[in-house]
Amino acid sequence: MSIYRRLNTIEITDLKHPKDTSAFIKAIYFGGRAGFVDYKLDFSSTNVAFPNASVPIAGLIDYYKKEGIQFEVIEQSDIVTAISLLNPINISSQDDLKNINPLNKIFRFSDSDHVFWLVNAFLEELERSDKFSKGVFEGLEWCLNEVMDNVIQHSKSESGFVMGQIHKSNQHIAFTIFDTGIGVFNSLKDTEHKPRYPVDALTLALQEGVTRDPNIGQGNGMYGLRRIIENNQGQLTLTSNSASLFLKGNKARTFNKIPTISRERGCTIVDFQIDYAKEVSLAEALNFNGISYEPINLKIEKLENEYGEILFKLNEQTSGFGTRQAGERIRNKILNIHQQSDRIIIIDFSGIEIISSSFADELLGKLVIEYGFYGFNNLFKLKNMNGLIQNIVQRSISQRMAESIDSSRSNNT
Ligand SMILES: Nc1ncnc2c1ncn2[C@@H]1O[C@H](COP(=O)(O)OP(=O)(O)OP(=O)(O)O)[C@@H](O)[C@H]1O
Ligand SMILES: [Mg+2]
Repeated sequence: MSIYRRLNTIEITDLKHPKDTSAFIKAIYFGGRAGFVDYKLDFSSTNVAFPNASVPIAGLIDYYKKEGIQFEVIEQSDIVTAISLLNPINISSQDDLKNINPLNKIFRFSDSDHVFWLVNAFLEELERSDKFSKGVFEGLEWCLNEVMDNVIQHSKSESGFVMGQIHKSNQHIAFTIFDTGIGVFNSLKDTEHKPRYPVDALTLALQEGVTRDPNIGQGNGMYGLRRIIENNQGQLTLTSNSASLFLKGNKARTFNKIPTISRERGCTIVDFQIDYAKEVSLAEALNFNGISYEPINLKIEKLENEYGEILFKLNEQTSGFGTRQAGERIRNKILNIHQQSDRIIIIDFSGIEIISSSFADELLGKLVIEYGFYGFNNLFKLKNMNGLIQNIVQRSISQRMAESIDSSRSNNT
C-alpha cells in the first residue's frame, strides 16, 4: 500500500495500483468519520505515477474539493507536478494542445469537442513516438472515443478525466478514463437488463448490444473495447459501483467490495493497456451481429493524391529538420502510415532549404536499413530536394549502407 493517513495528513508514496485509489477513498472516508474536513497531502516522495491510480485520485480530489473538503499540499514531487494531478488541465480549443506533449498529463473533458481534440492529440503524439503494429492505432482510437463518449452520455457527471502513457521498454500504451458519476450499475439497473449486483452490470456492459437506452446507443462501445483488448492480448480493468472486472487475454476475474464515493455516486474507472508490438485485427475484433466493421481511415485517405499515392509534406511537420530526435519522430510517423496503408509514400521536401545530416540519417538512412535498398525504392519517392539536401541525404544514406554491410560482414566472420 502506498497511501497512509495520520490524523488529517495523507501521505502518497506511489500512484501505481488500483488499490491506491481505494486507499485514498478510505482515507477520506475514515478521516471524515474521525471529524476531519480538511487534509494535508504529502506527495514529497511520490516517484511513480501510472494512469490507473493518478487519474482517479486527481478526479476524486477535484470532486471532494467541490464538496467543501479542503486540501493543502505540503509538498509535491516533480512527477506529481508534471502530470497536473492537483490541477487537471482544461482545454478550450484544439490550439491549447498544439505545443504540448499530451501524454503523461491529466486532462479534464466535458464535451465531444474535448474528446475529439484530445484523441487527435494523443494519436499524433503516439505516432511520432514509436512504431506500432498494424491495427493498433485504429483500435486505440476506437477505445478512447467510446470510453470518453460514455462519460458524456451516461455518467451524469459534469466531466471526466483522462491520462495516457507510452512505456517503450515493454511496448505498452496505457490509458485511464475516470468519472465521479452514477456508475455502470446505477445506469443499467432499471433497464431490461436488470443487473442484480454491481459486478453483473460490468459483465453485462461488456456484452454486445447492452445499452441503457436503445434509442440513444447500440451497446457496441464497451463490447468493441473488450474485443479489441482480447484480440491484442492486452488488459482491461473496469471498476464501478463497488465492483471491479479485470480482463487479461481472454480471462476475466471479478472483485467486490471496492470502496467508492457512495451508492449513488458509483464512479467509473476504465483502465486499458495495449501491447503495441502485437497487431490488432479490427475485422475480427469489431464484429457486430455477425457483420464485420472496419473503420475507414479518413486521416490516411486525406493524404492521398490523385494517383493514389500518399503525399507526406515534410514542411508541415512541427518538429524541425535539425535534430536526430526530429528525424526519429518523423520516421516513426512514416512507418506508422505505412502500417495503415500499402500506398507509395512521397516524401516531399518542398519549402525546406536545409536539413542536418543527423536528421537525414535518422529519417532516411534508417528507413533504407529498415526496408532494404530495394524495398525502400519500391515504397518511397523523394521529391523536391534542392542540391544541398540531395548531397546531405546521399552522404548519410551511403554511410548507413556501408555500415550495415560492414556489420553484416563482421557477423558472418
Ligand atoms: N461512464 C459511465 N457511467 C455510467 N454508465 C456507463 C458508463 N459507461 C458505460 N455505461 C453503461 O454501460 C452501457 C454500455 O455501454 P456501451 O458503450 O457498450 O453502450 P452505449 O454507450 O449505450 O451505446 P454505444 O456505445 O453503442 O453508443 C451504457 O449504456 C451505460 O448504461
Ligand atoms: Mg458507448
